[in-house]
Amino acid sequence: MTCTSVTVSQADPRLDGRAVDRVLFDERTIARRVAELGTEITGAYPEGDLLVLGLLKGSFIFLSDLVRQVRRPLQVDFIVASSYGDATASSGTVNLAYDPETRLEGKNILLVEDIIDTGRTINRLMGLLAARKPRSLEICALLDKKLENELRHTVRFLGFECPNEFVVGYGLDHAENFRHVPYIVSLK
Ligand code: IMP
Ligand code: MG
Repeated sequence: MTCTSVTVSQADPRLDGRAVDRVLFDERTIARRVAELGTEITGAYPEGDLLVLGLLKGSFIFLSDLVRQVRRPLQVDFIVASSYGDATASSGTVNLAYDPETRLEGKNILLVEDIIDTGRTINRLMGLLAARKPRSLEICALLDKKLENELRHTVRFLGFECPNEFVVGYGLDHAENFRHVPYIVSLK
């Protein structure tokens, strides 16, 4: 689960001329790992209701690819929490903008996050979700910067470890841009 470096396509018009340091995870590498995660998740939930809860907006592409690789019944819902605004450093304040309408009680909840940085977003959400008495509550994150962060929970399903750089693409943004870039790059 380490990073692979491949040559960046500086000509990609999706990046709008933005200086890219390097591609960290290309499309094939991501697809392969997402398929593996789907298999892991399928095997981890032999029974019971599974609700895959995507944290918007960053998880939207990852989640849509991931759920198609899970071979068991499931439901999908979304929540919104923001901590960054337009900055590239975490403000530490987490705002929960939307609550899932679906009942969580008695269900297996899989919270899907794009990237874990300070861990504050996940800490706050896990507290809020645990209070709804789910049967189980686990985290699936595409990327983890594995900092000496404040995360108080285990990431049960992890895509890749990510270097401590600001990354965009595959759902991740900078000031709402670059979410549609189909691979993950580090910005200069
Ligand atoms: P945390 O609360 O510090 O763990 O921040 C997590 C949230 O910050 C993620 O859901 C992302 O939306 C955002 N974030 C953290 N690092 C990056 C990054 O490198 N690129 C884009 N967004 C990031
Ligand atoms: Mg963001």
